[in-house]
Amino acid sequence: MIILGIETSCDETGIGLIRENEILANIVASQEDIHSIYGGVVPELASRAHLSRIDNLFKLSLERSKIDLKDIEIIGVTNRPGLKGSLLIGVSFACGLAYKLKKPIYFIDHLQAHLAVNFLKAEVEFPALGLVISGGHTSFFYIKNHISFKEIGRTLDDACGETFDKIGRILGLPFPGGPYIEKEAEMGNENSIKFPIPMPSSESLDFSFSGLKTSVIYYIKKYGKKNIPDICASFQKTIADFISKKIKIAFKKYKVKSFLLGGGVSQNKYLQRRIIENVPENIKVLIPEKNLCLDNGIMVACLSYFLYKFGVESDKKRIKVFPTK
Ligand code: KG4
Ligand code: ZN
Repeated sequence: MIILGIETSCDETGIGLIRENEILANIVASQEDIHSIYGGVVPELASRAHLSRIDNLFKLSLERSKIDLKDIEIIGVTNRPGLKGSLLIGVSFACGLAYKLKKPIYFIDHLQAHLAVNFLKAEVEFPALGLVISGGHTSFFYIKNHISFKEIGRTLDDACGETFDKIGRILGLPFPGGPYIEKEAEMGNENSIKFPIPMPSSESLDFSFSGLKTSVIYYIKKYGKKNIPDICASFQKTIADFISKKIKIAFKKYKVKSFLLGGGVSQNKYLQRRIIENVPENIKVLIPEKNLCLDNGIMVACLSYFLYKFGVESDKKRIKVFPTK
């Protein structure tokens, strides 16, 4: 059974084709070149780029996987949350295709898909705890089984990746700042600057990154950019301390058997190490491989496959999106 997954919720056009848990094609066209000069994603430019690329990327995915259009059995597409115009391109394309091929369509939640991509390669023991750390989101999920996700904590302001990107911009690093901060941090001393860990007395599973962002900005304004590696290492360490603390709280509150990570920030090796250190030893930790941490169509195909497998009724082929408010 071949499943197509389409992802266009932000600035990556992702087309994924899987045969159950085998990846046939994973095509991702990043728009970094388009948005980098603005230092952030420009929604109108993002939707235009999706529109001009999606058709060719889809054809390329068929070529690469050596399958025919009619071999596709299920179509999945992200319809929430994300940029309205961008979501509409993917959903319109997917609905048109599903209508023409007379195949079922599933509308997929982007955050759930980031975690569900872990189901592709491994048997997961449930219940599981999930943490999505991406450019637009930072959320904990309680996952009862492959298709049941309950959000149990979320960021109250900026997302984790967004904070990396803002600090990167202030430091004059390329966009998106996350991977460049990680690289700079490797050369710095993480104990050189003490930034305050956010929400010191909170026992909730919500996150807040804006206070930390402000402290780093004040520091740079006061002392300049003399030692970028030290600033990056200390900032990254504070993020890791904060996430580690939240993970400990989550494991106190929820009895689970696995821990799943997902989202662009989860490809940060330092954060991965620090997160793993804070998960109890008897809990299996699953982290997607590098190219599946960032936005992609495979994660959408994967969750669609499980919805189908669990007998969930497919969605109506009507264009319906739920953008980020
Ligand atoms: O999941 P994703 O592709 O898009 C959203 O759903 O938002 O995540 C993109 C985010 C960006 O903020 C980027 O800076 C961050 O992931 N990121 C990283 C790293 N690689 C990507 N952040 C920290 N360290 C990295 N190595
Ligand atoms: Zn994402």
